[in-house]
Amino acid sequence: MPKDSLTITDNRTGKTYEVPIQYGTYSKDGASIRAMDLRQIKVATDDFGLMAYDPAFLNTASCKSAITYIDGDRGILRYRGYGIEHLAERSTFLETAYLIIHGALPSRHELDEWTRNITVHTMLHESIKKFLDGFNYDAHPMGILVGTVGALSTFYPDAKNTHEPAGRLLQIYRLVAKMPTIAAFAYRHSRGLPYIHPQNDLSFSANFLNMMFQIDPRYRPSPALERALEVLFILHADHEQNCSTSAMRAIGSAHGDPYSTLAGAAAALYGPLHGGANEAVLRMLAEIGSIQNIPNFIKRVKAGDGVRLMGFGHRVYKNYDPRAKIIKAIANVVFEVVGRNPLIEIALELERIALEDDYFVSRKLYPNVDFYSGIIYQAMGIPVDMFPVMFAIPRTAGWLAQWQEMLLDGEQKIARPRQVYVGADHRDYVVLDRRQ
Ligand code: CMC
Repeated sequence: MPKDSLTITDNRTGKTYEVPIQYGTYSKDGASIRAMDLRQIKVATDDFGLMAYDPAFLNTASCKSAITYIDGDRGILRYRGYGIEHLAERSTFLETAYLIIHGALPSRHELDEWTRNITVHTMLHESIKKFLDGFNYDAHPMGILVGTVGALSTFYPDAKNTHEPAGRLLQIYRLVAKMPTIAAFAYRHSRGLPYIHPQNDLSFSANFLNMMFQIDPRYRPSPALERALEVLFILHADHEQNCSTSAMRAIGSAHGDPYSTLAGAAAALYGPLHGGANEAVLRMLAEIGSIQNIPNFIKRVKAGDGVRLMGFGHRVYKNYDPRAKIIKAIANVVFEVVGRNPLIEIALELERIALEDDYFVSRKLYPNVDFYSGIIYQAMGIPVDMFPVMFAIPRTAGWLAQWQEMLLDGEQKIARPRQVYVGADHRDYVVLDRRQ
């Protein structure tokens, strides 16, 4: 009779242990043992007990989560059970953010309330503008975003009370609402343009485009670009336990306020291996310059001399990233409005060559979400250094949902991994003039 347990024999002692196997929603990819069950495995009673060694958490589940599901082999992504393709086709960003944070699609009334509550919190305190003015004109907008979100914690001292549901929800409204405003203000600051205040009769995306690009007060964002941006925001809203989300959970587990916590998550997103990859893709495409140079570039990537094909590969997806498929499709919608970005030809050819090359095929390296997103953002007139910021705006919803889930999870405690110490054994201190 099969049993849902694992029998472990410790060959050091000959002792056998049985540890239960637990499952998530799917037994195929949710089977795990509790790492703490290994602690009973000891050679002597005063041993610490066995640990699992897992640098970079390649095979460690740090939480149970009901928010996002990814099947990396089959290229499936779902928020709260809903397929990303359906949400991208039918939902709006704010509805998806509600779904991610509250766990279910809203009723009409719930959506109206949610939208109203986000909309009324889009303004920034006037002092934040002075704070923004302190940044150099050429400061990277992601650095500005990280610093400004962190600074918001000083404006809302009530946010420290993370255990009160209504207070938590208020900070969620504020953060989802203010991220686009901070992002747009960071851009306007870099261009020396006056800040454009949020306009409450516009949708989440149209308001963002307006704050970015309005010069003439008669400016109205194109409905096609507004919808394309909604879709891009939906695709980036959450992605389970990635680097920045794990940072959000780890920092939040110390029960600090969500502004400081989210600044930490955004800082994690900034790196080129994570949310900074979209920026790196554009710089890579520009450096390649033309289709003729692709074979030589691929050669350099394969030689492993520090060059990666940015926008390719993923820790979880070993198949085409479903978000990249959707983004590739909406590129054409955007190009119809603003004209074709010439870099798309290089990207398409790069993808074609890579997907036929054994180096990429054998390692299951496929385009990820960042491969095509930058090309669209650039076509829309968004500068390259704003790309990680464009990622952070919608991911705020995911970070907050994961943060709240962590706080409400009775099994969670302050995050504190173990280590395997490999340093020196005990040494006696030697005074300075006696050292060799
Ligand atoms: N170009 C060339 N080779 C690659 C690439 C790439 N983009 N990605 C992975 N490899 C190779 C890697 O060298 C290794 O080869 P070998 O087995 O011979 O040593 C193998 O594939 C496995 O790679 P890994 O580095 O062990 O994989 P990982 O899971 O640690 O890294 C990754 C995942 C996304 C950091 C990596 O694929 C990468 O650096 N990609 C480029 C950056 C990028 O596009 N990041 C965006 C990720 S999606 C958006 C997000 O959520 O952040």
